[in-house]
Amino acid sequence: MNELFNISGKVAIITGAGGVLGGNIAKHFVTQGAKVAALDIRPEQLDLRVKELLSLGGEAVGITGNVLEIDSLEKVAADVLSRWGRIDILLNIAGGNLPGATLAPDQHFFDMKIPDWEKVTTLNLNGTVYPSLVFGKVMAQQKEGAIVNISSMAAYSAITRVPGYSVAKTGISNFTQWLAMEMAMKYGDGVRVNAIAPGFFIGDQNRAVLINPDGSLTDRSMKVLAKTPMNRFGDISELNGAVQFLCSPAASFVTGAVLPVDGGFSSFSGV
Ligand SMILES: NC(=O)c1ccc[n+]([C@@H]2O[C@H](COP(=O)([O-])OP(=O)(O)OC[C@H]3O[C@@H](n4cnc5c(N)ncnc54)[C@H](O)[C@@H]3O)[C@@H](O)[C@H]2O)c1
Repeated sequence: MNELFNISGKVAIITGAGGVLGGNIAKHFVTQGAKVAALDIRPEQLDLRVKELLSLGGEAVGITGNVLEIDSLEKVAADVLSRWGRIDILLNIAGGNLPGATLAPDQHFFDMKIPDWEKVTTLNLNGTVYPSLVFGKVMAQQKEGAIVNISSMAAYSAITRVPGYSVAKTGISNFTQWLAMEMAMKYGDGVRVNAIAPGFFIGDQNRAVLINPDGSLTDRSMKVLAKTPMNRFGDISELNGAVQFLCSPAASFVTGAVLPVDGGFSSFSGV
């Protein structure tokens, strides 16, 4: 294994590991030799995920928990520490958009449902801040650790129809920079905080807005591709290397970065 990118033996807590992206990254981390604590609010999804992770020959445990409840996260921290003695990596992946928080093409900002706004901003933003508080405290005590958050293209420039998601992801980019500063200045250069900003990947949350029932591209996805110099959607496996890099010795002087993984979307004006 290339030492520069080695995460073997590292203890990684992955929130949202029952979901699409968290599950994919959890599988990758296990194949790279990391010890994975898969955290999710849905126990039935976790059971399936852990079976999958163990079948890859790795070390993994599933822990049901809620990223919005400090007590629940403290129990997870105690469980991981009693099992493996430390926490090296936190991947804050629980989050995503909610159908109720997306404006339909004929809806206006003034139609937005406040409960859905609250749900989507809370899950994405607080759902990243609270685990960073609880598991980051252990890293601060160790003076070593790496946190990776998930931002979005919506944090770079406005994307129609998704106000709550956009605000929350912009908050995550800012929080990534803030916590990176705080950790380095108070606990030294061993605790790093970064984020990735995925471009457009076809997932369960956005399939309906990007692909028509007959399999053709929607108008929205044609606009996305027109602003993506690589002219294609990403495959979620293409996020694995970026996340591993940010957790590895190769990124020892990288903190507060938000790394786009987007086929060029964020760097292209569209003209
Ligand atoms: N899938 C994509 O194409 C895509 C693209 C860009 C960014 N993202 C981001 O990646 C992240 C994950 O997306 P996904 O597509 O894997 O979503 P997903 O819905 O498949 O997975 C999210 C997981 O989080 C869990 N979860 C929800 N609330 C929770 C809570 N309170 N506590 C603990 N777990 C909770 C869910 O049970 C679920 O398993 C999100 O931040 C999303 O914005 C996804």
